[in-house]
Amino acid sequence: MVWDTMNDPGLKRTVFITGATSGIGSAVALKFAAEGWNIILHFNSSGPQFGELKRKLSGLNTQFQFLKADFSSRSQLRTLSAKLDTLRIDSVVNNAGTCMVSKHFSELTLKDMNDTFMVNSFAPMLLTSRIFMLMKERRFGRIVNISSIAAKYGGSSFSMHYGCSKRALEGLTRTLAREGAECNVLVNTIRPGVIDTAFHRKFPKDLTKRIAMIPLRKMGVPGDIADIAYYLGSDKNSFITNETIAISGGE
Ligand SMILES: NC(=O)c1ccc[n+]([C@@H]2O[C@H](COP(=O)([O-])OP(=O)(O)OC[C@H]3O[C@@H](n4cnc5c(N)ncnc54)[C@H](OP(=O)(O)O)[C@@H]3O)[C@@H](O)[C@H]2O)c1
Repeated sequence: MVWDTMNDPGLKRTVFITGATSGIGSAVALKFAAEGWNIILHFNSSGPQFGELKRKLSGLNTQFQFLKADFSSRSQLRTLSAKLDTLRIDSVVNNAGTCMVSKHFSELTLKDMNDTFMVNSFAPMLLTSRIFMLMKERRFGRIVNISSIAAKYGGSSFSMHYGCSKRALEGLTRTLAREGAECNVLVNTIRPGVIDTAFHRKFPKDLTKRIAMIPLRKMGVPGDIADIAYYLGSDKNSFITNETIAISGGE
């Protein structure tokens, strides 16, 4: 359902979520929707999952629209950015993220690194910076950057590009949080640990071994991230900014 978020002053708050139609992103979308927010859901390739998500969203008292863009494409990013300029956005959850390829760091090409940084770092930098300026004018905004525990440890030898790109995303939190503090735009990072999503099927690893490294000895679920993303990304949060919160079973 398309609606005019810019010009209707009576509207409910609106959140823009990237990578919103799978895994953690869809759990975040459903959480905001359940709390009565309107949702702008970005997606890239996960069309077939819309059926279930749309059905769930339709059952909630919310308005929503889907926007497609491949963040590794400059032209698609520019088009999306121009579209977002026309919408009123109160909160952003930068959730889209990928490894692109799983290769030993000695074999990564510049293209592998660039594509990964485009999705995980440059797209959030570009899109959020513009939305941030409009939030500043309205003196309200919440931004949540979904990083990774990989940014704490460094990725494995096969995910150097991923870990480094998430570290760059965390830098975005720091920069925006400082300027946002004077105008009620609060910016935070969440570092998920191992969460049970399709991510691990796209980039397989020995999960049994990985889970044994987690003090709580289990994976998290998308709802674990969604609850905190909602808290940090909504009016509930009035005093947390420039913070990094790990949701990682004790890692
Ligand atoms: N699961 C974990 O254990 C874990 C741990 C730490 C951090 N994270 C982070 O959590 C976030 C969500 O991951 P997830 O676990 O929910 O996995 P997921 O289901 O694979 O979600 C990844 C999301 O990123 C989007 N995306 C991937 N490539 C893209 C591209 N080229 N352009 C635009 N969007 C793109 C995908 O969109 P489409 O599906 O539409 O292509 C998808 O919605 C990611 O940033 C990930 O790095 C996950």
